Amino acid sequence: MDLPQSDFATRPMVDNYGRTINYLRLSVTDRCDLRCVYCMKARPKFLPKADLLSLEELTTICDAFIRRGVTKIRLTGGEPLVRRDVLSLIDNLGARIGVAGLEELCLTTNANMLPRYAGRLAKAGIKRINVSLDTLDPARYAALTRRGTLESALRGIDAAQTAGLNVKINAVALKGDNEGELPQLIEWAHGRAMDLTLIEVMPMGEVDASRNTQFLPLTEVRERLEQQWTLTDQIGSTGGPARYVSVKETGGRLGFISPLTNNFCAGCNRIRVSCAGELFSCLGRNGKLDLRNAFRTGGMDAVDGLIDQAMATKPARHDFTRPGEVGDPVSRSMAHTGG
Ligand code: 5AD
Ligand code: SF4
Repeated sequence: MDLPQSDFATRPMVDNYGRTINYLRLSVTDRCDLRCVYCMKARPKFLPKADLLSLEELTTICDAFIRRGVTKIRLTGGEPLVRRDVLSLIDNLGARIGVAGLEELCLTTNANMLPRYAGRLAKAGIKRINVSLDTLDPARYAALTRRGTLESALRGIDAAQTAGLNVKINAVALKGDNEGELPQLIEWAHGRAMDLTLIEVMPMGEVDASRNTQFLPLTEVRERLEQQWTLTDQIGSTGGPARYVSVKETGGRLGFISPLTNNFCAGCNRIRVSCAGELFSCLGRNGKLDLRNAFRTGGMDAVDGLIDQAMATKPARHDFTRPGEVGDPVSRSMAHTGG
């Protein structure tokens, strides 16, 4: 059916499986000041700067998605705060909250630069941030991130809470590494009024270690936690991949993101754009569309066309394989796609 241009450009995004997409995750850079062992190699190859979309282009592309029904945008990376002038993008997107269909702007960060930025983020209209923190042990933090210090991350979290930002902690569960420490990490987060979400390590991109040695099924973690705590499933979905429980003993909320042991794709509401303008309809697949070229050669009409193509081809579910299984490994890292 030929739709008039105005309908075409504002039609909501619904994929072939009836899932409505209203959440855009935008990776603003693939670079990071850390080198987490499960995310990248010690010497990663970053994209040439010439491949990146400018912050103005990213803003315009966000507008295209907002017109198509995106109500929530999360800025990710890499580490979004290492991109030069990222505050101009944040201010511009923040100004769209509540006026252009955008309801929420969020950010995922490693917290290291928050002492400098937290106040500005809050002022721009960001209310909630996710902080990646896998351990409270200074030596383990240094080893896991290869570059960071725990002290600096904790200072960032303090700054965020002082600025009034609601902080959620994301912790990747790693076999033989932070696994024994997870209860303390959860208690600590809940004691500071922060939700914590555990994440299964996903086979994405190349790292120096073997994924098999890193992978810890969250089914196992949950069983162990249940020996010491009362976990009650929370009903109602956040529209995201995390399943939440309340922990009676700590009074806090604990999430599980278990792509490998508990598939969550049926409720998927998201789409991803990388800093190089690649459009990924699924985190756990290699397929992508070239939004940068479409935008630069065909403008907003071409962007809309590509969004339609993404809806028509978004896969039913990810293709992550568990250690030992055969599959089509996702070649790009989380830092490239945005978590
Ligand atoms: N598997 C699971 N989580 C990952 N992250 C980065 N790489 C991986 C991976 N391969 C996490 C980061 C951050 C979130 C966005 O994704 O630690 O918390
Ligand atoms: Fe959606 Fe893909 Fe994520 Fe599954 S892995 S929830 S299909 S984006």
